[in-house]
Amino acid sequence: MEIREIKLEELDTKSFVEEKVSEISATVGDGSAINALSGGVDSSAVTMLAHKALGNRLKTFFVENGLMREGEPQRIVSLFRELGVSVEIIDAKKLFFDALKGVTEPEEKREAITRVFYKEVFGQLVKKSNARYLLQGTNYTDIEETVAGIKRQHNILEQLGIDTQEQYGYKVIEPLIQLRKSAVRRVAKALGLPEEIYNRPPFPGPALAARVIGEVTPERVEIVRRATKIVEEELSKTGAFQYLAILHNDKVTGIREGKRDYGLQIEVRCWESKDAKVGSPTRLPHDVLEKLAEKITKEVEGVVSVTYNITKKPPSTIEAI
Ligand code: XMP
Repeated sequence: MEIREIKLEELDTKSFVEEKVSEISATVGDGSAINALSGGVDSSAVTMLAHKALGNRLKTFFVENGLMREGEPQRIVSLFRELGVSVEIIDAKKLFFDALKGVTEPEEKREAITRVFYKEVFGQLVKKSNARYLLQGTNYTDIEETVAGIKRQHNILEQLGIDTQEQYGYKVIEPLIQLRKSAVRRVAKALGLPEEIYNRPPFPGPALAARVIGEVTPERVEIVRRATKIVEEELSKTGAFQYLAILHNDKVTGIREGKRDYGLQIEVRCWESKDAKVGSPTRLPHDVLEKLAEKITKEVEGVVSVTYNITKKPPSTIEAI
């Protein structure tokens, strides 16, 4: 891998920001660029860097893929409006769910999401806007994991031999590619982003689809979305690296109102980690776990079983797919 990592100890955020702003300006010239904002720390930092470099020649989109957490699109758009950045929501739910129909194999799901995102959604947006560049927040760890063949991160293109100019009609600019997450957080802070953004727990590119085992349908995403909300509410105070809910594919026998209820299973994961490369499950108190089980089975229709993952990464990974 030829890209050189900039380690946290050697990062000077002020000169990093200045350097990247002038690189983006020089590359885009007097043309225009687009970028996708998901509200995660990486895409938020890129949005601010590119906004500094290009002003209103940058067009920022929030792609509503139907796979995001509850209320996410509106919340992120209004937060950036306060920072002086206008963001347009693109409703692409149908495109994503059509592409995911009948797909159960994890890497195929990831590929379907990548294809819709880069080819269908961004290919079209680039054509309409006449932009020649797409900015995105790929970081050093994304590349490492993809190149190592662990998971195809949704945002890795060139390193997999994909020529974006030829295949999608635009070039990709990746200003954060030399940084790991902790360094990106520091840059995000230096760019004036609020703490709720720069300290946000990671969230995967394929969004809740990374947490649905088996077919990803709107109904199954809705179940995982509701369980995610409960897990985030209950576990945010733990200060853990990441916490999430996964919907299993197989059903199990349960009991509801004295009768057999063949129902759904939710798996909860909560991770201690520095950079997501390795991780171990948080030793959550038993009463916290019991409360999670009670709330999820009560508030998420159809769920009769809640389990807690006790496996380290490796051999587990953080997400389910
Ligand atoms: P895994 O599941 O591979 O996750 O142990 C490692 C970290 O990366 C996040 N993740 C992703 N981030 N695009 C991203 O930007 C992706 O496709 C993706 N898949 C996983 C995951 O949430 C964890 O923090």
